Amino acid sequence: MHLRSAAPSIAVAIGVFVIAAACTPGDSLDSISTATTATSTTEVPTTTEPSTSTTEAPTTTDTEPAAPQLSAAELGTGGDVLFPGLGNRGHDALHYSIDLDLTGEELAATATITLQATEALDTFHLDLVGMTVDAITVDGEPAPFERDERELIIFPSSPLAAGDEFEVVVAYRGTPAPLDDAAGPFALGWQTRPWGTFVASEPTGAATWFPGNDHPTDKATFDIDITVPEGVAAAAPGRLVAQDTGPDGATTYRWASEHPMATYLVSVATGPFSITSDPGPDGVEIRHAVLTSREVELLADLESTIPILEWMTDRFGPYPFDTYGVLTIPDSIPFALENQTLSLFGADFIDFGGDFADQIEVHELAHHWFGNLVSPAQWQDIWLNEGFATWAEYAWAEEQGFGDFDELATEAPFFGEMGPLREVTPTTLFDAKVYFRGGLGVEALRRTVGDAVFDEIVQAWLTRHADSAATTDDFLTIVDEIGGDEAGALMRSWIDDPEMPPLPPRP
Ligand code: ARG
Ligand code: ZN
Repeated sequence: MHLRSAAPSIAVAIGVFVIAAACTPGDSLDSISTATTATSTTEVPTTTEPSTSTTEAPTTTDTEPAAPQLSAAELGTGGDVLFPGLGNRGHDALHYSIDLDLTGEELAATATITLQATEALDTFHLDLVGMTVDAITVDGEPAPFERDERELIIFPSSPLAAGDEFEVVVAYRGTPAPLDDAAGPFALGWQTRPWGTFVASEPTGAATWFPGNDHPTDKATFDIDITVPEGVAAAAPGRLVAQDTGPDGATTYRWASEHPMATYLVSVATGPFSITSDPGPDGVEIRHAVLTSREVELLADLESTIPILEWMTDRFGPYPFDTYGVLTIPDSIPFALENQTLSLFGADFIDFGGDFADQIEVHELAHHWFGNLVSPAQWQDIWLNEGFATWAEYAWAEEQGFGDFDELATEAPFFGEMGPLREVTPTTLFDAKVYFRGGLGVEALRRTVGDAVFDEIVQAWLTRHADSAATTDDFLTIVDEIGGDEAGALMRSWIDDPEMPPLPPRP
């Protein structure tokens, strides 16, 4: 039977919803984009050095020349072109151990972060938005700190040498306030709802609930412990390694992510969820967090996770992490999100059932290779995430007999301008072109080089940059190397030409 469901146009409609929402101007964005320049050189409050030693000027001593120090502006940026306030320079986050206590009126938290200095530092920054910081230690010693927009500026009691590993403990509390950032279809970060909480951070929201180095170029492993009152469940990325209930009925859910993760993909959800655990293909644990009240029907719809995972493993290679599943929240949200190992969906989305819900599940699972395993090194490279996820979605739909790349190529321009892929701004990061021109560009490459070379290119991309981040130029390097000049020229025109090129005919 020839299946022609309404799925593609619904998918496009969802895209338009996101686009419409993403075009709402947000005013807090400026403060993010300009945070770096706003960060002036701060006076060191407590130090054994003479007070003239600001972060601008290296201190000299009689014995040896002091190592050059980064300026405050340099310390406060991860180098992102679109969002210079995200991330920091001078250190590399290796591991986060985050303790969240949700049994009181507000969130009480401790973040223990293992960092490695990449430069000599007598001060360094983390990103944190809102919350009240009570105390900070560096290697066990109390450390004074200051706040300036999203910069948390820390003054260790003794300077750090390049290469030093050190441990920062930040005790903080408050009710996380999501960022009204125009890049999102709604406020980003930690969200509090009558039924519980969830996290949707991409791209700038992670710092609303934990201090860190908030840029995809600095991945780390995470242990997240969440203590919740009796009757509430708590989900987070990775494996549930322990669940300890105290005499008062409060339970601590201990989650461990042994694979590196970008900060924007770290999520927590608390609420009326049932957390499942089942063996899946190739030793991958299938772990969902579904609404307990609708557990049976939601899990029935989510049975497609296993065949989708198998399809993707055939295409892209082994699933990169040790567990996968879907979080369904009671709210209706105008997007789904590839939070690492625990994709976020509104339960109503799963209710579509059948091909359409599956198509979006394919999209979010594909991000675990394209976005989560290999992340964008600049946020303007976001098409590498959304283009490949859209490609996977339509490649899967074509095999099911209802998707069609040629039809998508005809329809795409009706859903927004299809200009150059790297021409995005903080407010247009998730525009239709990023998805559709991106996905069609990947299909154009496949049609041009053929399946075998295409697979080689994809494998080189996924293995060369695994657990790391890469740029569009890094991708073009691989296309040139493996696909040759014609493929390189084609891919460049799909990425940079003012107009979207025509999709080559099927081979
Ligand atoms: N990465 C999400 C997706 O799978 C995009 C979410 C839309 N917008 C956002 N600010 N997170 O399509
Ligand atoms: Zn996506």
